[in-house]
Amino acid sequence: MSVRGRFITFEGIDGAGKSSQIAATVDLLRARGLTVVQSREPGGTPLAEKLRSIVLADPMHLETEALLMFAARREHLALVIEPALARGDWVVCDRFTDATYAYQVGGRGLGDDKFRALEQWVHPHLQPDLTLLFDVPPALAAERLANGRAETDRFEREQRDFFERVRAAYLQRAAGSAGRILVVDASRPIGTVTAEVLAGVGRLLDLAA
Ligand code: TMP
Repeated sequence: MSVRGRFITFEGIDGAGKSSQIAATVDLLRARGLTVVQSREPGGTPLAEKLRSIVLADPMHLETEALLMFAARREHLALVIEPALARGDWVVCDRFTDATYAYQVGGRGLGDDKFRALEQWVHPHLQPDLTLLFDVPPALAAERLANGRAETDRFEREQRDFFERVRAAYLQRAAGSAGRILVVDASRPIGTVTAEVLAGVGRLLDLAA
């Protein structure tokens, strides 16, 4: 009988510095001989990537935004995440449902009941095995974004108070996650952050062995 793979997600406000930590995690898992599927949300399938370009570019009602995030997620789960986990692969995903809680409930003000109904509908039995939440003050994240890229999307152009609400919602979700979400202080030097991330992933590897 094959063993279900493990599902690791990465979260944080825009500019928190997820990308290099995702690369380090994938390298570690592959070095251990595991098959890794690396993906992102919204996105990860041709249709979900189309939904991503719409949702990152076009202004819309906050509930439309939440529905499109979950529509893209349903597709991603069906075509990529669920088959990979069933094969025994490890899935490393840049954002998942915690982002909807943080951005749409915390940032935009979507009703918590609506969020829970959608989460229950789209993945009633699945949660990540481990979520690394990169926590940084929005001022530092904005500085990093300004140094990083010329083009910004609809979310990255939001004001500081939006990111304060998103950050607070992430921390609130972490507090209720019974240890699933590991909060990493990402304002520290990158090497220190990577060491903490790889230690967290290493604990999951030990549990899975
Ligand atoms: P990225 O820049 O990390 O690729 O994410 C794209 C943007 O989409 C980011 O600003 C966060 C936002 N987002 C949501 O608002 N809700 C969600 O459910 C997801 C997955 C992303």
